[in-house]
Amino acid sequence: MLRTHTCGELRIGDVGQEVTLSGWVQRVRNKGGLVWVDLRDRYGVTQLIFEEGSSDPALLEKAASLGREFVIQASGEVIERTSKNKKIPTGEIELKAAKLDVLNAAKVPPFVIEDETDGGEELRMKYRYLDLRRAVVREKLQLRHRMMQETRKFMDKLDFMEVETPVLIKSTPEGARDFLVPSRINQGEFYALPQSPQTFKQLLMVSGFDRYFQIVKCFRDEDLRADRQPEFTQIDCEMSFVDQEDILSTFEGLIKHLFANVKKVELPEVERMTFADAMKYYGNDKPDLRFDMKFVELNELSQNKGFKIFDDAELVAGICAPGAAAYTRKQIDAITEWVKRPQVGAKGLVYVKYNEDGSLKSSVDKFYSQEDLKSWAEAMNANPGDLLLILSGDTNATRKQLSELRLKMGSDLGLRDKNTFKPLWVLDFPLLEWDEESGRFHAMHHPFTSPKSEDFALLETDPGAVRANAYDLVINGVEIGGGSIRIHDRDTQKTMFKHLGFTDEDAQAQFGFLMEAFEYGAPPHGGIAFGFDRLCAIFGGSDSIRDYIAFPKNNSGRDVMIDSPSAISEDQLQELSIQLALKK
Ligand code: AMO
Repeated sequence: MLRTHTCGELRIGDVGQEVTLSGWVQRVRNKGGLVWVDLRDRYGVTQLIFEEGSSDPALLEKAASLGREFVIQASGEVIERTSKNKKIPTGEIELKAAKLDVLNAAKVPPFVIEDETDGGEELRMKYRYLDLRRAVVREKLQLRHRMMQETRKFMDKLDFMEVETPVLIKSTPEGARDFLVPSRINQGEFYALPQSPQTFKQLLMVSGFDRYFQIVKCFRDEDLRADRQPEFTQIDCEMSFVDQEDILSTFEGLIKHLFANVKKVELPEVERMTFADAMKYYGNDKPDLRFDMKFVELNELSQNKGFKIFDDAELVAGICAPGAAAYTRKQIDAITEWVKRPQVGAKGLVYVKYNEDGSLKSSVDKFYSQEDLKSWAEAMNANPGDLLLILSGDTNATRKQLSELRLKMGSDLGLRDKNTFKPLWVLDFPLLEWDEESGRFHAMHHPFTSPKSEDFALLETDPGAVRANAYDLVINGVEIGGGSIRIHDRDTQKTMFKHLGFTDEDAQAQFGFLMEAFEYGAPPHGGIAFGFDRLCAIFGGSDSIRDYIAFPKNNSGRDVMIDSPSAISEDQLQELSIQLALKK
């Protein structure tokens, strides 16, 4: 090996040892007769010292001429530093170098490779391999590695078998858009990359594998955001002979194991809430429970008092921002402007200040007495010093707007602490959701999700009201995972496809293999998939999953380092016989 130790390893107890280190030059400081070099590798930074008068007279000059990011090898004795650096683990020692070899020179890097860098996002992504040399970036991937190992450990212990499923599969119309891959051998035909291994894991249950998991890449051609990448990783799981409770408790176990072993955090009990309650009280199917500010509906207390906007509204609802009564007029105006932005879309905002002296001051004093306002404050459990913020309008729109406002106020008031973790199971999702564009119902989770048996009859009369055996795991307002108990018989699956607007022929062509498999002894089964990148980001306290992916795509779905996607040659197009279609 070209080293005896790593750059993160030597301590005061190693003083006197002859060692060899290899790594990258992070910094060179030249004080005339003395040159210090910070040498970095994956494990840390060790200071090298080159002094005048050592056995090799050219050594000092060689050290002084080192450039940033040169790859070098240095040998010498470990000595105690005169001025110690308490900030790094190797800060008490330095290597008094007697020998220096340049293993490879380096061009001046396009940005500073230290925790604090001058490189912008775009530049760092173009040179991602240099960005990954920075400790703060590398540590995120080390966290990801730990999470992966701990996941495998936990799952293996519970007899889950990791099985790889294919990446070249078949396009299906449900869910997001597919990424397609043309087949050269079968001209005019296409594979699709899996949006998830859903049907394969169900088939593995029919095969009797009983407990499956896979840490697996999934591909979805959808609009990108901070928590969405076109290719991302799931911890994908499936179990046989289980009901919903079994799944929830098994995977609560996984999440608690990860928090305890990777983050050293004892996770509190995972709360539970129905989808209906999540929407009613938080306007959102993934409520952030790190703070309260539950919605309170005020229709009864606020209507028929002459304020037309409330009188005409389907819903009047508010939140209580603790301690915010002291907000100035300017601050409240800014919140009003914020909710009126097109991204939120509220028409206006009503506020009530519950002053410290017990008096109430609102933007609708013309219509409401102090008693009226007091009754709102009571309904909202407000204390003197709090600020009530109220929106009104159509139920769904108002809930959505109030949800945005709640999250903003939570952030503004510092109530969304990254080191507090509030996990939540959201249960009883609707089976179907109406899609205006296509004028038909879509599966809210996916078409293999079973309806609740007590709601089954409603499929014929009121499909939108049918609840599913489906659940999501939410942590701090982020959807971390989702799954369901599956349909496992052909007839129910057929009925489901019918309600999703498939003809018998379409259902057969798309999913005939699955329905046929159900006729050969399919066990009752269910499962879940976790967004692994999102889980890592939550653990690391970041909003962006990109930081936890070694080579991520940007918001336009591009990898700017390898410059992909890219055009392909005329020959390749011809081989695939897709030349004409592309040229149009
Ligand atoms: P679902 O579609 O809910 O379920 O996906 C499971 C989890 O994957 C994560 N996720 C994403 N993460 C990053 N980028 C994306 N584009 C992205 N899309 C989804 C989310 C989500 O909760 N087969 C089913 C699971 C099952 O029923 O067992 C499925 O894929 O955290």
